Amino acid sequence: MTVLGRDPEMALLRDALAAATAGRGRFVLLSREPGIGKTTMTAALAADAAAAGVCVVAARAPETSGARPCWPTRSSATSG
Ligand SMILES: Nc1ncnc2c1ncn2[C@@H]1O[C@H](COP(=O)(O)OP(=O)(O)OP(=O)(O)O)[C@@H](O)[C@H]1O
Ligand SMILES: [Mg+2]
Repeated sequence: MTVLGRDPEMALLRDALAAATAGRGRFVLLSREPGIGKTTMTAALAADAAAAGVCVVAARAPETSGARPCWPTRSSATSG
């Protein structure tokens, strides 16, 4: 997966991944307008992590209203 023009953001994400795999967990929030590449960047990071043997768990929040509280966390915990 090719990510164009996001070297600083990808470096931040890779630093966070390296810290996490060294036992120092990180929380990273990507927040910008639709289509800017948030999913693309996280997918690229997830692919790199999986290739390095890291367990990658992903979940999506529904875009409709009325979802149960903490739905992404719940679904990621049960998705295997
Ligand atoms: N930096 C980038 N490099 C390569 N492709 C990109 C980049 N940014 C966006 N794209 C492309 O633009 C489209 C939208 O990107 P993406 O789905 O990652 O956006 P998003 O920020 O997750 O949007 P949304 O907020 O709607 O979820 C995709 O086809 C993706 O491949
Ligand atoms: Mg997205």
